[in-house]
Amino acid sequence: MQNSPWWQHSVIYEIYPRSFQDSNGDGIGDLNGIIARLDYLVNLGVNAIWISPIYPSPMADFGYDVADYCGIDQLFGTMEDFKHLLSEVHRGGLKMILDFVPNHSSDQHPWFVESRSSLTNPKRDWYLWRDQPNNWLSHFGGSAWELDETTGQYYLHSFLKQQPDLNWRNPDVKAAMFDTLRFWLRLGVDGFRVDVMWLMIKDDQFRDNPPNPGYRLGQPSNNRLLPVYNSDRPEIHGLVAEMRAVVDEFPDRVLIGEIYLPIQQLMRYYGADLKGAHLPFNFQLLQCAWNAESLAQAITGYQGALPGGAWPNWVLGNHDQSRIASRVGPRQARIAAMLLLTLPGTLTMYYGEELGMANVPIAPERVQDPAEKNEPGLGQGRDPERTPMPWDDSRCAGFTTGLPWLPLGDDYTTLNVRALELDQSSILHLYRRLIDLRRTRPTLVSGKLQSVTVQSDVLRFQRVGDQDRLVVLLNFGHSPVEIEMEQGTVILSTNLDRERHPQGIKTLGLNAAEGVIIELDQLPA
Ligand code: GLC
Ligand code: CA
Repeated sequence: MQNSPWWQHSVIYEIYPRSFQDSNGDGIGDLNGIIARLDYLVNLGVNAIWISPIYPSPMADFGYDVADYCGIDQLFGTMEDFKHLLSEVHRGGLKMILDFVPNHSSDQHPWFVESRSSLTNPKRDWYLWRDQPNNWLSHFGGSAWELDETTGQYYLHSFLKQQPDLNWRNPDVKAAMFDTLRFWLRLGVDGFRVDVMWLMIKDDQFRDNPPNPGYRLGQPSNNRLLPVYNSDRPEIHGLVAEMRAVVDEFPDRVLIGEIYLPIQQLMRYYGADLKGAHLPFNFQLLQCAWNAESLAQAITGYQGALPGGAWPNWVLGNHDQSRIASRVGPRQARIAAMLLLTLPGTLTMYYGEELGMANVPIAPERVQDPAEKNEPGLGQGRDPERTPMPWDDSRCAGFTTGLPWLPLGDDYTTLNVRALELDQSSILHLYRRLIDLRRTRPTLVSGKLQSVTVQSDVLRFQRVGDQDRLVVLLNFGHSPVEIEMEQGTVILSTNLDRERHPQGIKTLGLNAAEGVIIELDQLPA
């Protein structure tokens, strides 16, 4: 494992910078805030941080509308602050992954300002302009086309109208965007998470999408059509390979793709000869029903579909998804932690997961997310999972001295970093132990995944390395169960209360919602 690339044995921790730590009292997290909390991340044991966009932006989509791909928004700090953060990250032995948003820029980006200025502007073709709209829909509701009065044409925006889609078929766009990657790579950034990678190329004939027979009233309006012609187009794979080649100009960097697609289509993003994304994000754990049977199928399905030599990865949460503790409940959140951290490959977790942080309900007058504002009440809003990190029980939880941009959870006086650090049985300690176990037991990272089975509500699998055989048992049920076991020793339990228990007997009693990792006495053959 020592010789494998760093990202293969990494736990990646996503920071939503607005909500991690504020350093200047404006109620919005910033780069100096992250610097102040790096020790916490080093102690947690994670290996890399991925920071959601920090580039200059009008913040129509909170940074996913980039107005300058090579700068830092003053809300987050300065370029000097960024360089300081990067060197501190590296000094702490961590890596830094930036968010790259290539599908669209902000409508305030100078490129778009030029592009929209006239039909003959040299940058006209940098965006997607048409005389007539087709039927494509925006992910945030309504048509994906906006009429621009100046020239009487429509431009495409797969998200907000303040986020015009770039034309990746134009070689100048490609060259300019690849140079922005090089800018950050030269500064020493360790890789990129690429926003909506599967949407970057659209049908060159702009054909209408067919209706979605599965659409039901009450679903987001974007579901009315099947995204046949504006997503996952065949040409995307060539583009991803080119992007990878840029990243490969620099040693030891990683390219990760945000891709929401069925598994067979997802796997293609590893690229021919694995020259695509190093890691197409695997969102199985976010999408799968939370029971032993479904998860067993998701795990074996994913493993079985991996192309030869492709490195697996698993994601437990991100800034677009309901928090795991809200989705499955606080007790199952511990099972989720043990599941994530015993699966093979690279893992991604979202800030606050290690606290069992839940979604925070947002009153209508405090809604920030355009996804909720545009289509209220359909459960599209992402504010609940983007609320400030609770550090302690002081006013505003140690996050800010001002007014936080989103409210804190009601439970922050008890559910906060300081309180959970003092409680030796807390989920925070469980996360630390699990992450540490991955470091000391390389089998958990790169050992074989075998014998995935389900017995009543218990998911069971083995991780087998050269030196050890580990069995993971996770009880998704609400009652205790007896499980047949080979002889071994419990090395970790989700309740942190039965380590080093030799299991000399034929059965093991698992409590409701309990998970254990057992090292079998019998060595690998
Ligand atoms: C991605 C981001 C999401 C953003 C969207 C548009 O899905 O994760 O937060 O709103 O792309 O950039
Ligand atoms: Ca701030």
